[in-house]
Amino acid sequence: MKKFLTVLVLVLVAASVLVAAPKKKGKAGMIGLAMPETHVERWQKDGAALLADATAKGYKAEVAYGDADQGKQNQQIQDFLTKGAKLLVIGSVNEGVVSAVADAARDGAIVIAYDRLITGSKDYDYYITFDNYKVGQFQGKAIEAALNLAAATKAAPKKIALFAGSPTDNNAKVFFDGAIDVLRPYVEKGSLVIVGPAPLKSSDAAFTKITTENWRADIAKARMENLLNNDAKKVVLDAILAPNDTLARAIIEACASDAKYAKKLPVVTGQDGEVASIAAIRDGKQNMTVFKDTRKLAAATIELADALLKGQTPSIAGARLDTTSYDTGKKKVKAYLLEPVIVNKDNYKAVMIDSGYYKESDIK
Ligand code: BGC
Repeated sequence: MKKFLTVLVLVLVAASVLVAAPKKKGKAGMIGLAMPETHVERWQKDGAALLADATAKGYKAEVAYGDADQGKQNQQIQDFLTKGAKLLVIGSVNEGVVSAVADAARDGAIVIAYDRLITGSKDYDYYITFDNYKVGQFQGKAIEAALNLAAATKAAPKKIALFAGSPTDNNAKVFFDGAIDVLRPYVEKGSLVIVGPAPLKSSDAAFTKITTENWRADIAKARMENLLNNDAKKVVLDAILAPNDTLARAIIEACASDAKYAKKLPVVTGQDGEVASIAAIRDGKQNMTVFKDTRKLAAATIELADALLKGQTPSIAGARLDTTSYDTGKKKVKAYLLEPVIVNKDNYKAVMIDSGYYKESDIK
């Protein structure tokens, strides 16, 4: 009997080791990194930096790109959960991600909303991003300065067309509000005239007319061509508010094939510091961009993830904690905000090249 019990204990111990072993090796602290798309350049840099930083801190991590398809991204999130992910960093495609976030919560995995707020969910507590309102303010201020709006008059107003990002991306509203808050006083004074749909805040019904489904360049280009052939046919546009670089270049392309703009393009804004837009800024085709250093966002995110996984109180260097402003519609989440940087002809070398983000030879 004694012998039998000893054998039984040994068998049980061996079995538990066998069961526990893969859990310990493969699953402990696995981090799933779900990025929304690759057609906008930054996300591949985000994904690569997150992966490198997580690995450097000793985590097993995987990255997946959703191709702007929420169904696909939800499947990727399910796969991470099946693999035992303890934490998910999610740059969502749209609000359809909430079911996957609920599944993560059910499995006890921590979710960090990355760059884009996940609205409509009560199942997560942390959001990390840049100060996106400031991104929009930079765009508005660049137009204000380039058009010298302070000196413009109702008798000879400046003219602008408005574009916004994806209607399903909360950031698109925040960028627009930041920009239009700078421009609105001039519109109200009559010294700046909006050509085409004219929302004066993101909650206006007309906002949906200036949005660009899934941030797609072809959609922005087609809308710009349409404007040039209709509302903007008989006017010369001085500026176009473009929300990011991918769309800015599509808009510039449409304007460049209109004879009216052969000598002088409108002032076009941007965001992300994409390599082709840095070249366009150098060449005087795009007025500005806003650099949101993905290396810094990734590093801060993994710092946050590490603290949360260790049950520590996060303190993230270089990020401002805002516990009151970010509401998913179901709850307030803790938001960590990093600082964006304005980039134009005067400082692109210092910001984008001296910082090591690009090599001079990358800027073709
Ligand atoms: C990001 C931008 C990006 C856009 C399109 C936004 O949520 O904040 O940096 O250009 O999505 O991918």
